[in-house]
Amino acid sequence: MGGLGRGARMKANEAIVEVRDLVYAIAGRRVLDGLTFSIPRGSCFGVMGMSGTGKSTLLKNLMGLVRPTAGDIIIDGVSIVGLSERELTAVRRKMGMCFQYAALFDSMTVADNVAFGLRRHTTLSEEEIRAEVTAALQRVGMAGTEDLYPAQLSGGMRKRVGIARALVLKPEIMLYDEPSAGLDPITTAVLDQYIASLSREAGMTSVIVTHEVEELFALCDLVMMIHQGHIVAIDTPEALRESSDPLVRQFVEGQPEGPIAV
Ligand SMILES: Nc1ncnc2c1ncn2[C@@H]1O[C@H](COP(=O)(O)OP(=O)(O)O)[C@@H](O)[C@H]1O
Ligand SMILES: [Mg+2]
Repeated sequence: MGGLGRGARMKANEAIVEVRDLVYAIAGRRVLDGLTFSIPRGSCFGVMGMSGTGKSTLLKNLMGLVRPTAGDIIIDGVSIVGLSERELTAVRRKMGMCFQYAALFDSMTVADNVAFGLRRHTTLSEEEIRAEVTAALQRVGMAGTEDLYPAQLSGGMRKRVGIARALVLKPEIMLYDEPSAGLDPITTAVLDQYIASLSREAGMTSVIVTHEVEELFALCDLVMMIHQGHIVAIDTPEALRESSDPLVRQFVEGQPEGPIAV
């Protein structure tokens, strides 16, 4: 599958996300220490790095859930750094987040979970909402589960409902934080098929964060490696496999010995 066909949609220099000199410090430590990169519109962009290296923190900065210590983040041409909460809400509507833990409401049915954002943010009728919910569930292979409760679903199914809940709001950017965390390999492969098919849909940009190298390489057009708050490399999976950078090599090959001390 790889990136075939998607490259054509990645118009040169057209970035939907631009990050400039991003610093994020917490408890006196620079978790992100000067990141500059851009994400091409329509691409599938991966972020890899060791646990605790700031991947989730980066996503929270992109979503405007936390404020950078310094630097700029431009989403679809709008700098989000100085925005008020109200202004941020409009930008956040462009982004759908699939959290590491599916974070569904246990007391609500699948349909009500998926409908949640639509009821909150739109004036659609209940009939229209039902149609949108059904369509979003179909796109992640979960048609017919509307009346089930999260407790009746497997981990992989809950993740897919979580994706449907984000999709229903028609985001331009889908952000996935460790989508396959806690899933077995087969369930992961199924989930990745849905992520890949969504990321090939015209116009949608996907950002996937994980320490699972092979998963990222299979899904992404471009992958950025971060380590100790810095960008080590941004390149295609093919180029990263051939990289002579010792940090990249150790990470990609999963070697216990090397410059990355655990
Ligand atoms: N709210 C917080 N308070 C203190 N430290 C934090 C907080 N959020 C993140 N960190 C620290 O920032 C670092 C990066 O965390 P995180 O972004 O979750 O890493 P990753 O997602 O790559 O595993 C970790 O060392 C973590 O301890
Ligand atoms: Mg994380």
